[in-house]
Amino acid sequence: MSVLELQNIIKNYPDGQNVNEVLKNVSFHVEQGEFAAIIGPSGAGKSTLLTIMGALLSPSSGTVLLNNQDISHLSKKKQTEIRLNQIGFIFQNSDLIPYLKITEQLQFIQKISAKEPLNAKKLLQQLGLDHRLNSYPNALSGGEKQRVAIARAFINQPDLILADEPTASLDSKRGREVVKIIQKNVHQQNKAAVMVTHDERVLDLVDTIWQIEDGKLKKIKNH
Ligand SMILES: Nc1ncnc2c1ncn2[C@@H]1O[C@H](COP(=O)(O)OP(=O)(O)OP(=O)(O)O)[C@@H](O)[C@H]1O
Ligand SMILES: [Mg+2]
Repeated sequence: MSVLELQNIIKNYPDGQNVNEVLKNVSFHVEQGEFAAIIGPSGAGKSTLLTIMGALLSPSSGTVLLNNQDISHLSKKKQTEIRLNQIGFIFQNSDLIPYLKITEQLQFIQKISAKEPLNAKKLLQQLGLDHRLNSYPNALSGGEKQRVAIARAFINQPDLILADEPTASLDSKRGREVVKIIQKNVHQQNKAAVMVTHDERVLDLVDTIWQIEDGKLKKIKNH
């Protein structure tokens, strides 16, 4: 069973008198234990696709199934709940909250109802941030911030990780480290992840590759 499945997704944006058809009948799936990458030129619709996968945006038509549940036509409130419980997001610019210390960034969104909650400090230590637990984001380097964003995406142990160009602000060594952390989590914890990337140098770390062009998505590397 797929963790995430997209069926016949169409997404139009109004564009003056016209419509801009960004996604033209896109289908996609990612399984447990699979790390998928999506590549394609700027403006091709990669971020649009990822935000639809994460129920942050509704498609014009089509179905998004997360663990077999249709999440594309739920209320905003229900979608928010699903995001909190089942999806971890990592964005290009880590978007940490400036006035929270690093440990608090995780505790702030941590579910109190979790059966076996992860320890925020331990998780940060595993990502090499022991010396940063009580710092504020502005004292961290780009790579450190991105690792905090990853820890934040992992803290509630979601089934699905979505990452939009997580290496964009990093040099190639740091970028590779960040992608390796995601890879390890996917394979060891049997999770699923989807990463949008421009960075061809990290593609050897993923299991499957999809390419988007002219609004169409196709798989170009199989498991
Ligand atoms: N909220 C919006 N309203 C109208 N048009 C939008 C909106 N968001 C994106 N678009 C348009 O949809 C297309 C795809 O944008 P998207 O951000 O998904 O591309 P992308 O592949 O992520 O590009 P990049 O690699 O530069 O991040 C672009 O033509 C963009 O202008
Ligand atoms: Mg984008």
